[in-house]
Parts: sequence; C-alpha cells; structure tokens
Amino acid sequence: MSWSTEFADCVECDAPLGKLTWFRLGGPARYLSRPRSADELAAIMTRARNEGLETQVLGAGANVLVRDDGVDGVVVRLDQPGFREVEWDGLTARVGAGVDLMLFVRECSARGLSGLEGLAGIPGTIGGAVRMNAGTRHGEIGDVVRDVELLRRDNVRDTWTRDQLGFGYRRSALDGEIVLSARLEFSQGDPQQVNEAFVEHLAEKMRTQPLGAHSAGCVFKNPAGRSAGELIDRAGLKGTRCGGARVAREHANFIVADDGASASDVLRLIDLIRDRVAREFDVELELEVEVW
Ligand code: FAD
Ligand code: EPU
Repeated sequence: MSWSTEFADCVECDAPLGKLTWFRLGGPARYLSRPRSADELAAIMTRARNEGLETQVLGAGANVLVRDDGVDGVVVRLDQPGFREVEWDGLTARVGAGVDLMLFVRECSARGLSGLEGLAGIPGTIGGAVRMNAGTRHGEIGDVVRDVELLRRDNVRDTWTRDQLGFGYRRSALDGEIVLSARLEFSQGDPQQVNEAFVEHLAEKMRTQPLGAHSAGCVFKNPAGRSAGELIDRAGLKGTRCGGARVAREHANFIVADDGASASDVLRLIDLIRDRVAREFDVELELEVEVW
C-alpha cells in the first residue's frame, strides 16, 4: 500500500518545508505527516523505519535550517489538536508538544505562575523547547519540567523524569525520542511581578535581537565563558553577506535570510564565520542550529 493510501488524511508527498521554518528556506520533505494521535504517530514511525527512511520531528522550525534539496524522508509535525492541549492542575500543567511556546509563556505569566517568564519572546513549540532546553540567562525550560511523556525510538510510550532528560546548556538527552507532552511545575508568584518580569525580558530581547526577521535565532552555541555573538562582532562580520544571507547588525550571532536567499547561502556564511572566528580567536564555533 502506498503512503498516500495508508495515511491518506495525514501524509502529504513532496511537501515544501520552507514555509514551516522561521528561516523560510529549504526544499520539500518526501513525506510530511501530521498525525492526529500518538497511535497514528507510532504507525507512521513504524512504517518509516521499516522502509529505512530518515525521520525528523519539526516543531515551529525556529532552530532548523532545511537544505535546498529538502529531506528525503519523513518529517512529522505535531500541530493537530490532539497535541495542543493544556491541562492545568494548580501549580502544574500538562502541555502538549505542539503548544506554541511564546503564547504559553505569556499565559503562565499572566496567571502569575512563575518559572518561564525568562523565556519571553522565544519562538517554538513545547516539544522543540524541551528537546533544545530552550532558554536565556534568566532561565531554561528544563528548570520547570517535572517529566515528559514520549515515544521512544522502539515506538514504546514512556515517561521520563527531569533527571532522565539530562538537561544542559541547549541540550537534553533526547535523541530520536518524540515528546508527546510535558508536565511543567511552576511556583506561585505575584501576578503583577511575574508579568512585569515577562514584559521586561521581552523588551530586552526585542532591543537586542532581530525578532522580526527570517532567522533561526543564534546560529552558534556560546563557547564556554564567551559570547559567540561578541566574537563574530569583534571579527568585524556584522553585515557580511553571502547571497541573500547576512550577519544581523542587531546581533552578530543571528544570520538573517533576505528575499531571494537560499539555504546554501546561509551554509556558506556559516563556513565563512567559522573560519574567521577560528583564525582570529582560535575558537571553534559549534552550531546550535540544526541543518537538515
Ligand atoms: P524546531 O526548530 O522545529 O526543532 C528543533 C529540534 O527539536 C529538532 O531537533 C527537532 O527534531 C526537535 N523537536 C521538535 N519537536 C520535537 C518533539 N515533539 N519531540 C522531540 N524533538 C522535537 N532559543 C533559545 O534557547 N533561546 C533564545 O533566546 C532563542 N531565541 C530565538 C529567537 C529567534 C528569533 C528564533 C527564530 C529562534 C530563537 N531560539 C532561541 C531558537 C528556538 O526558538 C528554540 O531552539 C526553540 O526551542 C525551537 O523550538 P521549535 O519547536 O521551533 O523546534
Ligand atoms: N555582543 C556583542 N555584539 C553582538 C552580540 C552580543 O558585542 O553582536 C555582546 C553583548 O554586548 C554582551 C554579550 O555579547 O556583552 C552577550 O550578548 P547577549 O546578552 O546578547 O547574549 P548572548 O550570549 O549573545 C545568549 C543566547 C541567546 C539568548 C540571550 C539572552 C546563546 C548562543 N545565545 O546570547 O539565545 O536569547 O543570551 O539570554 O546562548 C538562541 O539560543 O537562539 C538565543 C538567541
């Protein structure tokens, strides 16, 4: 049976991925699947693995650069209602993997639930944020994760506690497991104070980063004790271009894709930045952005 027959309602063939990422770049997925339930997701993953196809899970595409020739495999997106539910229970919430991080952070802050206000303005989904341990110097999502319900690589559903999730700087132990939902735990704050902190962090982010542009946030991780953005800036690279990709003037660790840019322009610019920073400061920059 063909993919489009077996999964007629939830798989699209040769589906453009660019519009599903913040960069707005890159080619199509051989199959793009939007399962409605964890069972449907498991069936899709089983078939993909039986056929030896590459599989990727796409959140809001805020940390991903898709190559121009796309993904010759299955890309899964958990954006259907079954993955976007939030169940509140006092100071905890079970949050679906497909829930929008920015809106959720704002809602918590408005409710006076403290713990995520430092993440104000970070785009993404809960699933992608848990996988990346998204955060700022004011806190990371791992700080409030109690446990995560996930689909393991052997297609068994499981719950991993915070300890098992191995959160570190922009990393977690997740490696092919798919987050279905996360249980988050907050502390009760004064609604006005939590909201003020949220507004302050959002303003700081908007002041220092090009949030309205097509980017994937910081391209490189900060090397221990240093800021990659500062090193790129000191190397004189702000404004440097490769085709339609350029180093942002607002923050040098952001690459912005202008109209007409391609993913290969971004990749060439990444190589140029790495070479220059290695030469000038003897520092090897490590990618934070994932290249598919
Ligand atoms: P994607 O980019 O879609 O995917 C990222 C990774 O998560 C991939 O490996 C993907 O396979 C995996 N993934 C996605 N969903 C799941 C799931 N359900 N289960 C398992 N794995 C999954 N990041 C920060 O940490 N701090 C910042 O301050 C910050 N600022 C940003 C500002 C801008 C303007 C932009 C565009 C990005 C910024 N980022 C920042 C990066 C990005 O927002 C985060 O990495 C975010 O967590 C990505 O979430 P996503 O849903 O878009 O994941
Ligand atoms: N700086 C420059 N030039 C630049 C950028 C920064 O000189 O172009 C200097 C700043 O003046 C400051 C220092 O570098 O003295 C640090 O800059 P900033 O406060 O902007 O923080 P960062 O280390 O560059 C990190 C995260 C961001 C996160 C901010 C806020 C990484 C790679 N980046 O940036 O996360 O939003 O802190 O906490 O960890 C992301 O991960 O995608 C991301 C945007």
